[in-house]
Amino acid sequence: MSVSAVQPELRVEAIGKTFESAAGPVQAIERIDFDVRPGEFISVLGPSGCGKTTLLRMIGGLERPSTGDVAIGGRSIWTSGSNEAVRSLAFAFQDSRLFPWFSIEENIALPLRLRGEPKEKRLARARELCALVGLQGFEKARPRQLSGGMRQRVSLARALAIDPRLLLLDEPFGALDAMTRDQMNLELQRICKTTGATVLLITHSISEAVFLGDRVIVLSPRPSRVHSVHEVTLPRPRTIAMQETTEFQQLVRAVRTDIAGYPA
Ligand SMILES: Nc1ncnc2c1ncn2[C@@H]1O[C@H](COP(=O)(O)OP(=O)(O)OP(=O)(O)O)[C@@H](O)[C@H]1O
Ligand SMILES: [Mg+2]
Repeated sequence: MSVSAVQPELRVEAIGKTFESAAGPVQAIERIDFDVRPGEFISVLGPSGCGKTTLLRMIGGLERPSTGDVAIGGRSIWTSGSNEAVRSLAFAFQDSRLFPWFSIEENIALPLRLRGEPKEKRLARARELCALVGLQGFEKARPRQLSGGMRQRVSLARALAIDPRLLLLDEPFGALDAMTRDQMNLELQRICKTTGATVLLITHSISEAVFLGDRVIVLSPRPSRVHSVHEVTLPRPRTIAMQETTEFQQLVRAVRTDIAGYPA
């Protein structure tokens, strides 16, 4: 089978969104199309308010598009309403959104509880995930006892609980300091390798987008379209030291030049 014959894991097809508001319609997304290969890591950059969260919500089955459709593993979400497709994906957001009264393992196990998995099974899985994200020993702790970076790890572990084929990440590390963020980027890279998940990451950081992505998709200002797509050819696994290389810096510069070239 040739590469082009591989079915995309995610297909975003002519998707557009106009919100109705009291002040009249607001066109958030004009039209966006792209395909994502199984196991591929896509970073999405774009100016504030251009429709990135809206795009992720439409891909995740949370917001109905005004036009177009989304298919996951070849199953359309919006025209044929595939529940199966939506069940195979997971979200993590900028704020970790943990339940303060649940322990760390209970927070991670929550999606499995909602699916009716028996207690023993879901807690065993939660403990495995704690180890995967480097939180052994904190299984019984409460979220308030953890640092911001640790809470983001919990949020990531919870997203991984259902073994998602597709992971949708909306600025998950935006609130973290630079050093913790580097650490989380390395962690995420390792987790992606282990799980083989396909990932769509929204970020405001050009260097994070390049560091993690196989491709970087740059969106235009609202109403958004795909402004440009950058292939990241850096070898994997990527290291922090790689950020000092000419190749990395050239890629970052190319993306930054692109963003600077937005129509006024
Ligand atoms: N439920 C809604 N009703 C009306 N307008 C909305 C709604 N949700 C989003 N919008 C508008 O759609 C546009 C895109 O919003 P969105 O949150 O997707 O942007 P974003 O790219 O994620 O921004 P940021 O980078 O700041 O997170 C904005 O102009 C916003 O005001
Ligand atoms: Mg957003």
